[in-house]
Order: sequence, then C-alpha cells, then structure tokens
Amino acid sequence: MKKTVLAFSRITPEMTERLQQDFEVIVPNPKHGDIAAQFNEALPQAHGLIGVGRKLGRAQLENAARLEVVSSISVGYDNYDLAYFNQRGLMLTNTPDVLTESTADLAFTLIMSSARRVAELDAWTKAGQWQASVGPALFGCDVHGKTLGIVGMGNIGAAVARRGRLGFGMPILYSGNSRKTALEQELGAQFRSLEQLLAEADFVCLVVPLSEKTQHLISHRELALMKPSAILVNISRGPVVDEAALIEALQKGQIRGAGLDVYEKEPLAESPLFQLKNAVTLPHVGSATTETRDAMAERAMSNLRSALLGQRPQDLVNPQAWKPL
Ligand code: DGY
Repeated sequence: MKKTVLAFSRITPEMTERLQQDFEVIVPNPKHGDIAAQFNEALPQAHGLIGVGRKLGRAQLENAARLEVVSSISVGYDNYDLAYFNQRGLMLTNTPDVLTESTADLAFTLIMSSARRVAELDAWTKAGQWQASVGPALFGCDVHGKTLGIVGMGNIGAAVARRGRLGFGMPILYSGNSRKTALEQELGAQFRSLEQLLAEADFVCLVVPLSEKTQHLISHRELALMKPSAILVNISRGPVVDEAALIEALQKGQIRGAGLDVYEKEPLAESPLFQLKNAVTLPHVGSATTETRDAMAERAMSNLRSALLGQRPQDLVNPQAWKPL
C-alpha cells in the first residue's frame, strides 16, 4: 500500500503528479474550505509532510501518529521543534546549497538598493519629481571599497563575501562561532568579535540561523556600536534583530539605513518601517527566483521520497532520527 504525503504549501500540480507515482498525495484546497482544518483532518493519515512556512511541534503534530518525515522546502528550520522531532524519532529534512547563490544575490540587491537609494529614487522619479538634475539631498553612498561585515560565515555568508571582495573590492570582516581559515586565505577575510565588526563595518550583513542564541542578536546596544554611516542588511530571520530598536535607530538617523528581507512577524502588513525612506523592505524573497524555487522543490521531493522509501535522505537535519531498515 502506498504511503500518504500531505502537502502544506508551495506544491504545484506538476509536483503533486510526480509524487503520486509513489504516494497518495493530499493537497488542501482553498476551494474546499479552510486550509488549516483540511490539514488537521488529513494529518493522522500522513506518513510524510512537505512544504514551508508552518510552525510544527508537539501541539501541531500530536495527531500525526503515522508521521515519519517532514520535508521542509527551505534551508532554515527554525519553524520546527527539533527536540520534539528527536524525541519522536521524526526525520526533518531541508534544502541547503541550492539557494546559496540566489540568496547571496539578494543580500547584494539590498546592499546596493540601500546604498544607492534605489527604491526611494524609483518612487521619486515615477512621482514626476525629476525636474532638474539630482542634488546632494538625494545622493547615495559608495559600495565598492567599503568594508563588508558578515555576521555568520556559513555557505550563504561566504557567497555574499565573495561578491563583496571579488566584485566590489570590499575588505571583508566576519564574526561567528568558528574561524574559516580557507576563506581568510581566499578572500583576505578577517575574523572579529561581533562588537568589533559592528564598529568597523560600513555594511553589516546578517546571515545567522535563528536560535535562542541569535534571537535579538542586534538590539539597542549593538545598533549603537555601528557607525552612523553604516547600513544593516538582514537576510537571515526577522527575530535576529530587535525590530523596535532598529526602527528607533532608523527614525533617529543613528545608522544610515537598513535593507530588510525578513521581519519579526511575517507577512509584514503594517509597520513604521513603511514610513521610513532609509529602510528598504522586501517580502522574504531571498530564494524567490524561478530557478531556485524549482531546485528547492526538487530537493525537498527527493528528500521526502528517500525517507519514505527507506533510503537515508540527502539533507537529514537530525541524523539521530534515521533508522535503517
Ligand atoms: C529559507 O529557505 O530558509 C528561506 O529563508 C526561505 O524560507
């Protein structure tokens, strides 16, 4: 008998069709009523879940008695209660690597947009305000040659650093749990404490995973350490930054600006950030290119298929949950 897969988001009809070759597939459909209710109703039958953007822990999964694996279509897995997964022996898989370069591209998009005031000037031009040559009030700041500070030098951090060093001639500083000697050699990157990095960098790019340790890693004290001319870019997770503190710093002009892809509460429907010209706000689109989202879906389907067909999935977040047949 085929095992059952329950999809909770980002599943296309084509993906459903392919999964149906091996599994029964349930995809909650908004046309048939409340999605959450359909999900909860189907949960007891599910051997595997696939999707992204849903918090899953004891409260949500208690009725999922047959569940073996959750295949997340994301690299970050802060939405899942890993301790609970481990306690139950539930496998959790993610989609690393395939989004590294696209997400680094977006970090640079935010760096460039914030420095050169792209969103602000676009709105200004379209509002018909370009009556004469632009003066200093609308000037931006240079990116090339400025110091780029990477907080969290994992794969994505390294990809951002390469763009900065090789493309824009930027000296690279980084902070994190460990020294990356190969990158130090490749890019001349220099290790700093977080405090030193904040004090020295012209662009501070946050690329750390969200954990208890990184929650509000950047708050009043840290923002006060940054140069008044510096720009903060967050492509990691919203709660890494104390958003109220950041808004205050931006309102006071304590730092030059911020480029944000992630927020404490998403979707961000209303925020004082919307009134701030020195904040560029994107709707969590680090990996949102057609090519990358397709690659993430492929990887997640492959992880799910492996786990449910008795093979060790390529991207097992919690190897202790793996039980070979
Ligand atoms: C990820 O994959 O973690 C991206 O942030 C999209 O959620």
